[in-house]
Amino acid sequence: MGTRITGTGSYLPAKTVTNDDLAKTLDTSDEWIFSHTGIRSRHIAGPEESTASMSAAAARLALEAAGVKPEDVGMVVVATSTPDYATFPSTACLVQNELGCRNAGAFDLQAACAGFIYALEAARGFAALNPGRPVLAIGAETLSRVTDWSDRGTCILFGDGAGAAVVEHSPEESLWKSFLHADGSGAHFIYREGGTRPGADGKPLPFAPLVMKGRNVYNFAIKALEDVTRRLCEAAGSDPASIDRIFAHQANGRIIEAVARRMDLPLSKFFLNIETTGNTSAASIPVALDQAVRSGELKPGMRIVLCGFGAGLTFGGTILDWPGAGAR
Ligand code: UT7
Repeated sequence: MGTRITGTGSYLPAKTVTNDDLAKTLDTSDEWIFSHTGIRSRHIAGPEESTASMSAAAARLALEAAGVKPEDVGMVVVATSTPDYATFPSTACLVQNELGCRNAGAFDLQAACAGFIYALEAARGFAALNPGRPVLAIGAETLSRVTDWSDRGTCILFGDGAGAAVVEHSPEESLWKSFLHADGSGAHFIYREGGTRPGADGKPLPFAPLVMKGRNVYNFAIKALEDVTRRLCEAAGSDPASIDRIFAHQANGRIIEAVARRMDLPLSKFFLNIETTGNTSAASIPVALDQAVRSGELKPGMRIVLCGFGAGLTFGGTILDWPGAGAR
């Protein structure tokens, strides 16, 4: 008994902001941003767009690709750090309603930039236990609304978007191994205040933009991406050199380049779209996956690694044969 991904979809807002646009109001430049991150532009949600609306747009395409009707969906999981509402209702409930998934359960999951990896694993569990009840695993963010646009150390990195995958039970077993991990000792490396945790004076802290110790996160990310990839390859009995494509969280192109060097792998093995998307956190892996599917770059039978890492600290990955045995 196994599971497989039977459809993908993604959505990026039409509005783009280039590095030159940012340099008009910030002490930065296209040269600095591109050389330190690999980013040239990012998509930013318009006033009428939200995490839920982008999730629904991506999910609609994923359902269409999988040939699954909304009423047949058994569960909607949205991985996000930027939900439509501060706590409830979940963004997944808004998506469930907008798509007409009237027989589905719905919940949000927060594991920052590793969120889609966690959502995929939750989806795999539900799908494996519930044949005939496909799961929508979605990663979506509207980071532009929690970013301090006057902080050049963070705002240059982030973009908005959503990606989705339909995960279904499969009667045939196929390779799918995952590894999820967290290290809360690094929680202060990247955070956003405004939850129920009180400040030093005992009073709740107001909502605030995200704060990041970029260098600490950078160092952690390189180690996490290499460790997760090696661990997954070992679990699958695969040499990293034999992996067809690695879909790493698009946090910073330099992180991916450094890992390719450390693992002695050609950069071409790593999918890269950060130049035009920026870092879209939980959306980055499913958007990349969908772009690779739709461009024909990702072909049936390819062995791939997905790897996410981010605030928490959280990290993890999945290795699978695309799209799994017995796929349509
Ligand atoms: O999605 C998971 C979460 N996030 C990440 O994975 C992000 C990981 N970290 C990074 O990508 C990098 O740390 C950044 C791109 C955010 C920053 O690059 P860095 O090479 O680590 O720069 P830094 O923070 O060490 O700063 C080096 C210098 C500083 O100037 P001084 O103090 O040396 O004079 C900064 O003020 O670069 C300066 N700087 C900038 N200069 C021009 C920082 N940001 C900018 C900027 N433009 N946008």
